[in-house]
Amino acid sequence: MSSVGSIRPSGPIVIDIENITKVYVMGQETVHALRGVTMQIHQNEYLAIMGPSGSGKSTLMNMLGCLDTPSSGRYFFNGKNVSEMDDDELAAIRNREIGFVFQTFNLLPRSTSLRNVELPLIYAGLDPETREQRAAQALIDVGLGDRLQHKPNELSGGQRQRVAIARALVNDPSIILADEPTGNLDSKTGDEIMALLETLYQRGNTIILVTHEPDIARHARRTVHLRDGLIESDEPAELASESLAFT
Ligand SMILES: Nc1ncnc2c1ncn2[C@@H]1O[C@H](COP(=O)(O)OP(=O)(O)O)[C@@H](O)[C@H]1O
Ligand SMILES: [Mg+2]
Repeated sequence: MSSVGSIRPSGPIVIDIENITKVYVMGQETVHALRGVTMQIHQNEYLAIMGPSGSGKSTLMNMLGCLDTPSSGRYFFNGKNVSEMDDDELAAIRNREIGFVFQTFNLLPRSTSLRNVELPLIYAGLDPETREQRAAQALIDVGLGDRLQHKPNELSGGQRQRVAIARALVNDPSIILADEPTGNLDSKTGDEIMALLETLYQRGNTIILVTHEPDIARHARRTVHLRDGLIESDEPAELASESLAFT
């Protein structure tokens, strides 16, 4: 099994979670969305989190992105205990360290591509001229240099997701968290988005991809399968696809 270890990157650990649980209480009903998840993610890994609907993928993603807090367990981000961070530190992680990409794009419908991508820079406190330059460059980088003044309803689904990716990248985050980023796209457009994520990975970003589609997950180098709020398997992608082929 030594070859398995050699596939893992040896860069510093950026995400370290220990026995994370999440319990949702809704009236009489209690949902154990995560039942004790432990894993470490190194810098410049390309990780897919897979599992059937309801297995806890989005819940885990929200924890990793500091968008939600666990019911129990510990989370160290770059070696720092997240539960001991104040609001400013948490906001800095969400705005600077992590870029979020969602299935539904989450763009402001009445704003142009440029304004949508500028938004995180407004929170970061940059002046208007720098904001516009950086937002335009981020859009050029994802191939939308000719769509700066278009609004979301004037763009195709793939173009909307590119705007969302430009917005995720504009603060130059080290980690990209993408929750079903191709879920609303046709397969050709989805392939283009996956090619873009591959480029970001090659440039040194850490990519964490949530998907229930094996065709999408195979772009990653490591695959974590969730089932009923627990890690069922955690394997290099090659092994994961091999084992799938024999079932
Ligand atoms: N905000 C919430 N309130 C109550 N239950 C939730 C909430 N979010 C998720 N759940 C429940 O937690 C479980 C895991 O959900 P989720 O993480 O969205 O799964 P996945 O993304 O794998 O489909 C599901 O049973 C879901 O219904
Ligand atoms: Mg989900």
